[in-house]
Amino acid sequence: MSTATIRNVLRGDGDRFVYIVSALAALNGLLFGFDTGIISGAFLFIQDSFVMSPLVEGIIVSGAMAGAAAGAAVGGQLADRLGRRRLILIAAIVFFVGSFTMAVAPTVPVLVAGRLIDGVAIGFASIVGPLYISEIAPPEIRGGLTSLNQLMVTTGILLSYFVNYAFADAGAWRWMLGAGMVPAVVLAIGILKMPESPRWLFEHGRTDEARAVLKRTRSGGVEQELDEIQETVETQSETGIWDLLAPWLRPALVVGLGLAVFQQITGINAVIYYAPTILESTGLGNVASILATVGIGTINVVMTVVAIMLVDRVGRRRLLLVGVGGMVATLAVLGTVFYLPGLEGGLGIIATISLMLFVSFFAIGLGPVFWLLISEIYPLSVRGSAMGLVTVANWGANLLVSLTFPVLTDGVGTSATFWLFGLCSLAGLVFVYRYVPETKGRTLEAIEDDLRQNISLAD
Ligand code: BGC
Repeated sequence: MSTATIRNVLRGDGDRFVYIVSALAALNGLLFGFDTGIISGAFLFIQDSFVMSPLVEGIIVSGAMAGAAAGAAVGGQLADRLGRRRLILIAAIVFFVGSFTMAVAPTVPVLVAGRLIDGVAIGFASIVGPLYISEIAPPEIRGGLTSLNQLMVTTGILLSYFVNYAFADAGAWRWMLGAGMVPAVVLAIGILKMPESPRWLFEHGRTDEARAVLKRTRSGGVEQELDEIQETVETQSETGIWDLLAPWLRPALVVGLGLAVFQQITGINAVIYYAPTILESTGLGNVASILATVGIGTINVVMTVVAIMLVDRVGRRRLLLVGVGGMVATLAVLGTVFYLPGLEGGLGIIATISLMLFVSFFAIGLGPVFWLLISEIYPLSVRGSAMGLVTVANWGANLLVSLTFPVLTDGVGTSATFWLFGLCSLAGLVFVYRYVPETKGRTLEAIEDDLRQNISLAD
């Protein structure tokens, strides 16, 4: 997205209605970020309320990821069957129910159930938010508005850190988790303002309504776009999930699945979800740890903006290489610092700074570029099912990391765990270098050619 587009998006220039509607839909991203980030602070105090083994701790944090994988797996089909608006409304209601259940949970199993319910909503939101925006946005600003969704994910995480900080003094983890009900209500009210996706309406034979929505959201070219939608709908009905296995699509699938897994196994969410716990082990108190986590969340947002501004100029590959390379370096420092004695002194400061740099490198590369690339590398005819599959893989890998992090740190120690993430990052660096094509300014055909060449290189 160019700087001018960001300015337009932020100022609401051009067709205001489409920006307002997209911003409302991006609340899905905000809730995704908020509900995944909030556990980081709440967790410190939950540990004081219940006696738990490391495995149960992991289950509480990762319950949401298991729910999200399930939600993402069925989200695409539900969005097709019920419509985008209805699924967004369902997501908002499920978010509300999940947050409420966690806030009042009398026992660990109820808390886990609440996390699972909340996770299903997160999974729905991670699919339907970008899907709705990409269908309601005029083609010229589609890329920019899609990136806005990732910006809202990081903003939601930051917001959750602030809420954690606000309730930290009182140790009020129930209020932290319950706070998710507020953006859920805003999203449910916001949906009243949002029209149904024109593409979905067309697919369901409601051509006049589709035309009416396009007229409200476009300055011209409505009939031409309706023709294009018709063409896409016709080709799409001939392709299904199995078409993803066609040999010519395999390289794109490898790139998408590889990036989905590397985005997670390099350890970002060990930091996003467990930062206060990690920081506490360096000698910071509960409240100070949560405050330092607010710093981490801020850097995450700021560097995401930087990445969005750079991505169309320096390209996806270079950002990924610098980002993942930086993650390898900072993880090596973290692995070393946590190995040395004296963590509660000066080394603790180095650890905190390294965590911040690690998040910066993620936010400049793997964070936004993964979501952007998977919306670019698949031909339109299979984009929906390909993105669905890749998103489920992303949540599955997220589940693996968030479930095993407490067990790993307890079993092999924090130092070895960071070294493990470092090794995964190194493998990720090789993967990016070897397989990820540059898509900046390329047509879809050129991207496909690139991917085909890569497979022949691999052979
Ligand atoms: C990832 C999330 C992560 C977030 C951090 C997203 O791109 O998919 O798992 O928590 O970035 O900013």
